[in-house]
Amino acid sequence: MSPTLTDAAPSRGDAADGLSILESRKSAAETFGIPLAVLAELTHRCPLQCPYCSNPVELERGGSELTTDEWKKVLTELAEIGVLQIHFSGGEPTARKDIVELVQHASDVGLYTNLITSAVLLTRDKLKALADAGLCHVQISFQGNEPVVADRVAGLKNAHEKKLEVARWTRELDLPLTVNAVMHRQNLHQLADIIQMAVDLDADRLEVANVQYYGWALKNRAALMPTLQQIEETSRIVEEAEVRLKGILAIDYVVPDYYALRPKKCMGGWGRQFFNISPAGKILPCHAAETITGLDFLSVRSNHSIAWIWQNSEAFNRYRGTGWMPEPCQSCEFKEIDFGGCRCQAFALTGDAGNTDPACALSPMHEQIFKTAETEASHGGDRFIYRNFAGGTVETGGEYGS
Ligand code: SF4
Ligand code: FES
Repeated sequence: MSPTLTDAAPSRGDAADGLSILESRKSAAETFGIPLAVLAELTHRCPLQCPYCSNPVELERGGSELTTDEWKKVLTELAEIGVLQIHFSGGEPTARKDIVELVQHASDVGLYTNLITSAVLLTRDKLKALADAGLCHVQISFQGNEPVVADRVAGLKNAHEKKLEVARWTRELDLPLTVNAVMHRQNLHQLADIIQMAVDLDADRLEVANVQYYGWALKNRAALMPTLQQIEETSRIVEEAEVRLKGILAIDYVVPDYYALRPKKCMGGWGRQFFNISPAGKILPCHAAETITGLDFLSVRSNHSIAWIWQNSEAFNRYRGTGWMPEPCQSCEFKEIDFGGCRCQAFALTGDAGNTDPACALSPMHEQIFKTAETEASHGGDRFIYRNFAGGTVETGGEYGS
């Protein structure tokens, strides 16, 4: 799974007035700054092997995952400090045998629940049980619009057909559906058909998420990097579809920042709007944060509360706000708009998370990454390194071979 956390799911009450909601709940923690939404990565186990997976290359083994009781305690604590939405993700969250129990508990403590899933492990009965337990929203990832491309990218036979089936059950059970499509050089030609597929599935929302290059995607960058022409065509297709499908399908578009002039405001700024909880209970500013070496991320198993970790831990405060910024960010008029871009990308490309994100045209490295993107897009091979617990397996040209 490659979760993209957005504001897609509605919150209880008026999200625009989030702080007053938190205050009205008499939150135990300081209300200022507590995120409204949290991503819980329940497990890194997953039957899919997507080469752009947002999980770290060093996957967490099942034995270190939080127990059912530990997750329940976390969910209760989140609700108490004023969090409103929980996004259950992974790996594949339904690989946890206790997923229905966790959704039920989240629901009982008043959290809005979203399931971010590859869908391939779900049966109709399981989905119905989740709906009965209070599940509010389902997000299903798709790797293409037909099995030849989609099953190869996922590294799992018959995955695409199963996803279509689960998407239909989702709507039959009257659950809102988001289709998440991670796009790259080897499936961008299917974008128009993926948009139509989302309409046909009666999805409320489609996330067109160009791959972001850290972790597994960085390993596979040469096989995934789109051409500039593909990106221009993608923007044209998305803009046309947004107008044509207004009121039918909402489309979120995540642009590939190697070709951008300004970086994305990653996670809304480090430690400003979101946090993730890893399978072993670490509180992280984003899903890729553990790729940055030298930062110590505290766990829910530590002696500290979640609110304390969010507000006071060194790892969250290191890149919070604008005080840490080097030039050119420090004197830039956009510094409170993009917060210097993405710390994980800065680390992946420069070796220092405290540098300006090279996606920014003002970074001294920008031209170099633009050229890298162009070269890899035109000369990179198509073979994937599939994501797995062995550190990756190179595609052999067998069942999913090119
Ligand atoms: Fe953003 Fe820094 Fe670039 Fe300014 S210099 S646009 S703050 S990344
Ligand atoms: Fe970690 Fe952007 S993904 S800050």
